[in-house]
Amino acid sequence: MSTGGRRLVGRLIALGVTGSIAAYKAVELLRLLTAEGADVVVLLSPSAQRFVGPLSFAALSRHPVETDVLDLLPDGRIGHIVIADSADAFVVAPATAHWLAAMASGLAGDVVTAAALATSAPMVVAPAMDGDMWRHPATVSNVSRLRDVFGYAVVSPEAGPLASGQSGMGRLAELPSIVDAVVAALAERPIRQPDPASRPPLAEGLIREADLAGRRIVITAGGTREPIDPVRYIGNRSTGKMGVALAEAALARGARVTLIAAAVEVPLPVHADVTHVETTAELREALATAMGLGSPGSVGSGAGSGAAAGGRRQTRSGPGAGAPDALVMAAAVADFTPAAPSERKIQRRDRLHLELSPTPDLLAEIAAAADARAVTAPAGRPVLVGFAAETGSLDRAAEKLRAKGVDLLVANDVSEPGSGFGTDTNRVTILDRSGTVESLPLLGKLEVANRILDRVATALDARDAAAQTAGAKPPSTATRGST
Ligand SMILES: Cc1cc2nc3c(=O)[nH]c(=O)nc-3n(C[C@H](O)[C@H](O)[C@H](O)COP(=O)(O)O)c2cc1C
Repeated sequence: MSTGGRRLVGRLIALGVTGSIAAYKAVELLRLLTAEGADVVVLLSPSAQRFVGPLSFAALSRHPVETDVLDLLPDGRIGHIVIADSADAFVVAPATAHWLAAMASGLAGDVVTAAALATSAPMVVAPAMDGDMWRHPATVSNVSRLRDVFGYAVVSPEAGPLASGQSGMGRLAELPSIVDAVVAALAERPIRQPDPASRPPLAEGLIREADLAGRRIVITAGGTREPIDPVRYIGNRSTGKMGVALAEAALARGARVTLIAAAVEVPLPVHADVTHVETTAELREALATAMGLGSPGSVGSGAGSGAAAGGRRQTRSGPGAGAPDALVMAAAVADFTPAAPSERKIQRRDRLHLELSPTPDLLAEIAAAADARAVTAPAGRPVLVGFAAETGSLDRAAEKLRAKGVDLLVANDVSEPGSGFGTDTNRVTILDRSGTVESLPLLGKLEVANRILDRVATALDARDAAAQTAGAKPPSTATRGST
């Protein structure tokens, strides 16, 4: 069998990630291992999940991520044992000082140590930590025990800038050298478990083609906060899980993603262009930029006034000019904002009267601006997706779809158990302009995200086909496949 020079074809590699500042690099390591032809399954320690969310790894590996040593697979098998028994090699990168100590002592308190103890696959360990931690006699002795007694390959950290702000020994080794160590550890060993039934399951819902390659999608996530004074705000219960799942799924399908993040409680995707916002007014401004519509004033009328106190708009990476292909507005945006936020902390009184002003309907503004622009550039109208969080009946959803002028409206009953804010699942109904109503069952948020993106991909293909028939150049064809 020709492997096209790829060194890990047919191999199953277990990638254990622990709670280091370098955990985000494991996403890139996963990509490199996959590029070598490996099937990769990821295990995250509880601390690692504070640095990088399992969604990134699930979307890219197309396997469910092992996060809890006590969780069973849907078919009843013990997840970390299945990985231990079927992995051809097990790489822990980054490996914390804590993980090295736990492993050296044979403790099995999390999925990474438990699976490592249970496997007979060759182990590759790439530590990353502060220089003093690396030099501490405890770490030195743990590393030599792993290397000399357990026979693990240790890819030593390198000198360079550290999370502490200092420079020194402890930085995670360059990723290609970790990949090389995995290849070397495997040598000529045969594939351990070629039978798919013996391997970890695939996350069925995550198997999608890269059908959004070359597309640019703007996604909003989380809840806005409207300041009352510099200390207090009016917020909502959104955690950002749905918006982040959409961003992860879109990235995994090849899209370039601009994520406008209001208050979110989950780690953000490593490969998205992220703009942080707090208030509705900041979100409006960030949207205008991301949608290539100029200043918020040119989008519509009626400004929200929330930026007066406590605003903290911050851009990690510019969203880029020009109209994107789609906007998915998953953020929970305040309907009202204090009319005159105080610049000083309001003191306790018998009574506080707050005057609230309605915020602008951001999606309706964008839709109107997109329609206006579509008159001169018909091929360029982005597909617009709105969300409607309701309690009880979803009867108002069809009216909202019309009022906002969006292509798709995703409605859900946030009072239903397992649906809405903070949950890992969602039950949504997708409505479109033609009157089609698609009611989905209760699904994981990543699968819900993929179902929504299926509709976006179809709408974009239809848009491009219509533009081609009309003789216009579809906006993305020049760049599709080039990102
Ligand atoms: C911002 C931050 C960065 C950290 N980076 C590292 C690191 O690079 N290496 C390390 O050994 N510990 C690091 N720690 C400490 C670990 O997260 C901590 O020891 C944790 O218990 C490790 O758990 P785990 O090994 O089960 O993942 C860091 C902690 C924080 C708050």
